[in-house]
Formats: sequence, C-alpha cells, structure tokens
Amino acid sequence: MSKGIFITATGTDVGKTYVTALLVKKLRDAGVNAGYYKAALSGAEEQPDGSWLPGDAAFVAQTAGIPAKPEELVSYIYKTAVSPHLAALREGNPVEMSKIVRDYQASLATYDYVTMEGSGGIICPIRWDEQHILLEDIIKELGLGTLVISSAALGSINACVLTVYYLQQHGIPVRGIILNNYDADDFMQADNKRMIEAISGVPVVAAVKPNAQELDIDVQFLQSLFK
Ligand SMILES: Nc1ncnc2c1ncn2[C@@H]1O[C@H](COP(=O)(O)OP(=O)(O)OP(=O)(O)O)[C@@H](O)[C@H]1O
Ligand SMILES: [Mg+2]
Repeated sequence: MSKGIFITATGTDVGKTYVTALLVKKLRDAGVNAGYYKAALSGAEEQPDGSWLPGDAAFVAQTAGIPAKPEELVSYIYKTAVSPHLAALREGNPVEMSKIVRDYQASLATYDYVTMEGSGGIICPIRWDEQHILLEDIIKELGLGTLVISSAALGSINACVLTVYYLQQHGIPVRGIILNNYDADDFMQADNKRMIEAISGVPVVAAVKPNAQELDIDVQFLQSLFK
C-alpha cells in the first residue's frame, strides 16, 4: 500500500522544497517509486508562453527525476506570492478539500511513497471565505505524519520546538525534524540540534548542509517514517 508524509517547516523559505527534493531523490535513486504533491502554491512564475509554472514542483521534479509535468503535482496554483487564502481572495479558485483528497489519492495511486509539501509554516490559512481551511485541517484530513524542517541558526530552538508542540497539540504526529543549512562546526548550531531534540523529544533524523546535493539518511529508515 502506498504511503505518504507531510513536510512542514518553522516558516516560509526555510527549505521545505530544497529538502523535499533531496528526500525524493534519495528514494528514487534507490529505485523507490517516489512522488511529490503540493496542495496549494502561491507565487507561480510566468513563462514566456504565458503559462504559470509552480516553481516548487519544478525544482523537486527536476532534482529528483520525477517523470511528470510540474503542474500535475500541484492542485492549486496562484500567481500572487501571498498565503493561499489571500491569493484566492484576489484571484478566485479557492481550495476545495474534496479536490485535495482526490488529487492526493491519485498521487498515492501513481507513486508508492508520496512526499507532500506544505505552504508556509504550520499556521497557514489555505481558504478563508465562507469556508475556513487551515493547513492542519488538510494534514488531518489526509491522516499524515509530518517532518519539520528547521534552520539551526540563532532562534531555532524556539521556532522548531513551538512548531513541534503546535502539531502535537493538534493531534498531528511528528515523525522527525530535519535541520537545513546545518553547520556542524558551529558550536551553537551543534548545541541547537542537541537542545531541540532534548526539549521536543523528537529526533533530528537528518541535517542538510548548505548546497548539499544528497540527503544523509538511511533509505530504509527514511521509508519507515512514511505512513
Ligand atoms: N541547504 C540549502 N543549500 C542551499 N540553498 C538552499 C538550501 N535550502 C534552501 N535553499 C534555498 O533557499 C531558498 C528557500 O528554500 P525553499 O524554496 O526550499 O523554501 P520553502 O520552505 O520551500 O519555501 P516556501 O514556503 O516558499 O515553499 C531557495 O532559493 C532554496 O534554493
Ligand atoms: Mg517550497
């Protein structure tokens, strides 16, 4: 049976897409039929032919060698680079939970291991008109466990542990933390890694150096984090 995991982070631009690309690449390089899915992407890039490219999906598909068009990997593509709820208020086409569920199930039917990338951090309004959908509603609806991407820079203990606590308080399992742009030679970052694990009780399952081209993790262990 196909499995999935949800990638969230301590905020936007922390490296969800970068780390996800390396994660999916790791699986695919090992011969695993791994795919990528994102429910809602804001800030699509206009192409010379007038189409709008979902950059996150393009980066992951290219890096990991997923044989699909980027637009097939994202359910809602907005032009405005703001939270999906606000982009939809401007552009129309608000997120329907039923479409997310359908598209995620279709992804599970195509790939054995689906890595789903969130939007922004963990508190992210996805739709806010007569209907209210938060990112966590989607994670719960799909029954996914999560990986939290965090920096290890100054302030990361607070940001990372708060994110883990928020997920847990909302009944969402946290399967691990991945530190991005990690510098093991920096005594503070090494201590941040130790303290994030000690306070949150969640293991740091990988640490990604700046410009890393590979995720340093055992493939079978990585597969075991999916549900
Ligand atoms: N380990 C890394 N080494 C080099 N560049 C990185 C690394 N991690 C992230 N980046 C770069 O930092 C920027 C932000 O990363 P990324 O797009 O992965 O963030 P994100 O959390 O997916 O953002 P969003 O919330 O917009 O989806 C990108 O330009 C990405 O290439
Ligand atoms: Mg991204």
